[in-house]
Amino acid sequence: MNHSKNHILVIFGASGDLTYRKLIPAVFDLFDQGLLPDKFAILGLGRTDLSNADFREKMKTGIEQFALNKPDNENKLQDYLEKLHYFSFDTKAPDEYCLLKGKLRELDEQYETKNNFIYYLATPPSMYEFIPEQLAKQGLSEETAGFKRLIIEKPFGYDLATAQKLNKVLLRFFDEEQIYRIDHYLGKETVQNLLVTRFSNGIFEPLWNRNYIHHVEITGAENIGVGNRGGYYEGSGALRDMIQNHLLLLVGLVAMEPPVIIDSTNIRNEIAKVFHALRPITEDEVPKYAIRGQYTASHIKGEAVKGYRDETGVAPNSRTETFAAIKLFIDNWRWAGVPFYIRSGKMLPTRVTEIVIHFKSTPHHLFANDKSICNNYNQLVIRIQPDEGVLLKFGMKVPGAGFKVQNVNMDFHYSDLSDTYLPSAYERLLLDCMLGDSTLYHRGDAVEAAWKFVDPILKAWHNNDSIPVHGYPAGTWGPDVSDDLIEEEDITWRYPCKNLANDGNYCEL
Ligand code: BG6
Repeated sequence: MNHSKNHILVIFGASGDLTYRKLIPAVFDLFDQGLLPDKFAILGLGRTDLSNADFREKMKTGIEQFALNKPDNENKLQDYLEKLHYFSFDTKAPDEYCLLKGKLRELDEQYETKNNFIYYLATPPSMYEFIPEQLAKQGLSEETAGFKRLIIEKPFGYDLATAQKLNKVLLRFFDEEQIYRIDHYLGKETVQNLLVTRFSNGIFEPLWNRNYIHHVEITGAENIGVGNRGGYYEGSGALRDMIQNHLLLLVGLVAMEPPVIIDSTNIRNEIAKVFHALRPITEDEVPKYAIRGQYTASHIKGEAVKGYRDETGVAPNSRTETFAAIKLFIDNWRWAGVPFYIRSGKMLPTRVTEIVIHFKSTPHHLFANDKSICNNYNQLVIRIQPDEGVLLKFGMKVPGAGFKVQNVNMDFHYSDLSDTYLPSAYERLLLDCMLGDSTLYHRGDAVEAAWKFVDPILKAWHNNDSIPVHGYPAGTWGPDVSDDLIEEEDITWRYPCKNLANDGNYCEL
């Protein structure tokens, strides 16, 4: 395994939740596996007044709770904590960036990191233009000595216009090669495995196109509500929060052409091409191709649960969608005419993200009850989470007289590989950035293309009150009308269960 050059990871927004729950524990996991360079430090920046000791103490509890590799060696944990530094700093005050420069110089000398800095913006998005500008003014974006990389959290923009503006501003201060737009879905092992499933298996290659695939279904379901994020979610909704980024990325990976070679430019070119080929949905067409919903109060397993409008930070008459489903087409040679159905929602019956490839049925039905099987088609289910794995459903003869056909499951679960360590998404992505590999980060043009696709839907929903926000009781699979998107008789969404292969009528949710 390659090691990155010595460097300092500078985290803006270090007193926030992301740093505590994800970033510091993920870097600890890298440290624990010996994947950090010899000389390495983290500089946390935040407005809260904390000493190094306070910061380390706080981060220690985060590591104990959230690191995948639970620290079992106190010395090792202490060695890591000593690399953590804190600098209380007002991100909004231009004058203070000069002080930051001084602090970085001091740590750079102490750790011999040769001016290699990664800046992680774990701040509210309102700071994404300001911080890079201030860094540049201090000469802290220049790569004359040492690398300078900038990691930007989602949301990258609020719509097409703001994403374009953000890209434009960033490119004034950093080069595209220095910008790492993070989407934690790309850090998931099972998402990366989509490339391997598709491009290293001869059996799928001939089938992966409009001739054999009837439709594709992608679900990103969560069984939790918005919790204490109501304030943020009100300005976001399911379309911005999950579909514009995570689910469209999955569409890109399922639909892309094989890259000529596996490298950042080639893979990202192919994903961008898919986004450019998405058939635009005009504002007028939105009711035909998109459904929105919002969870209402209900009972789940006997317990009363709140509706979205009763959540903290949510307006009592809010029309923000907590569920969205879209039917889309990719207008290119491979996918012409194949519908992709994608949906995401909060407070659904279970947490599951999966892709289902529904193959076309046989051209002629030979067996008496074959028709009902055909209506289910053969399915390849690629489970992103949980119970990560792959499931193939196919028809088999029921033993005994005659030719009765039933659907059976053939499944692989990552958990069967007992000695395999599945790194967390942040761990993988941070390591890649340290190594200067941007393959698993979004490129600016692809982000804009994804916004371009969702923009008319956002606008139609915003401007047109007559497009209903369908209520659905918390704990159900979203509004019934989402089935109307699938116009064909006898086809519905798949209703997945917690376990990949245990997917009958009475499964565990
Ligand atoms: C985040 C969204 O990007 O993804 C959250 O902001 C959502 O609202 C989360 O809960 C889902 O991520 P995962 O990895 O749990 O599927």
